[in-house]
Amino acid sequence: MFRKKEINDEQTLDLSRIPNHVAIIMDGNGRWAQKRHLPRIAGHKRGMETVKTITKAASQLGVKVLTLYAFSTENWKRPEQEVNYLMSLPGKFFSNFVPELVANNVSVNVMGELDQLPEETQKVVLKAIDDTADCDGMILNFALNYGSRREIILATKQIANEVQSGNLATDDIDSAVFSNALMTSSLGEDADPDLLIRTSGEQRISNFLLWQIAYSELYFTDELWPDFKASSLKRAILTFQHRDRRFGGIKQNK
Ligand code: IPE
Ligand code: IPE
Ligand code: MG
Repeated sequence: MFRKKEINDEQTLDLSRIPNHVAIIMDGNGRWAQKRHLPRIAGHKRGMETVKTITKAASQLGVKVLTLYAFSTENWKRPEQEVNYLMSLPGKFFSNFVPELVANNVSVNVMGELDQLPEETQKVVLKAIDDTADCDGMILNFALNYGSRREIILATKQIANEVQSGNLATDDIDSAVFSNALMTSSLGEDADPDLLIRTSGEQRISNFLLWQIAYSELYFTDELWPDFKASSLKRAILTFQHRDRRFGGIKQNK
């Protein structure tokens, strides 16, 4: 009765139960490079190829929103050369991948404080959003200069301003009002991830989607992000499909 469910690669995914929103903390690029005696940026370059593979795989599986943590509000602490390289990645990524995004009907969305990014980075990101605006398949949502504590502070300020200006009563502040003030609000009913994946063996959240993951299924894998494959994503989703999500209730029909 309490037997642990075994997951093996022969098992097939139930395509009618694919998580709507998958969020990924793409970690381990630096370690991938160091293991090969390469500079850390070589890991970020390879990690960008993984983003392409996983975007296509997720879209083909029927994921509705794929949120990728690309740069945190804390990542500015890294050496200038590494930060500069990370800031150049959106340009490299979108310059040749937009046609494939369009071919896969994937639209680009970005959350984070974009105005603090170098102008060129802002420009290429806004262009990618524009170039894919007509796609109505999966949303590829990049968290770029994103930090969840910052997001919560900004939401609180916005709500406080609405109360101060008389447009909102304090008593009317509820989950829906709060969710609406967060950076994921444009994702509507898919704002909260169903499945959160973190690669590289670290088991922490690192300031990612703190409000939104209240009931997400968490999946940690030792694989480094540049090694993560379409089959790794399928395995994570298969594991998700074996979990019982109760949301505080009790399991039905038992
Ligand atoms: C994740 O890989 C990418 C970013 C945080 C931008 P890391 O660069 O954190 O790789 P490790 O954790 O040092 O191996
Ligand atoms: C989290 O990874 C941020 C991103 C993947 C963009 P970090 O490598 O920055 O997180 P910590 O420092 O290990 O917590
Ligand atoms: Mg890391």
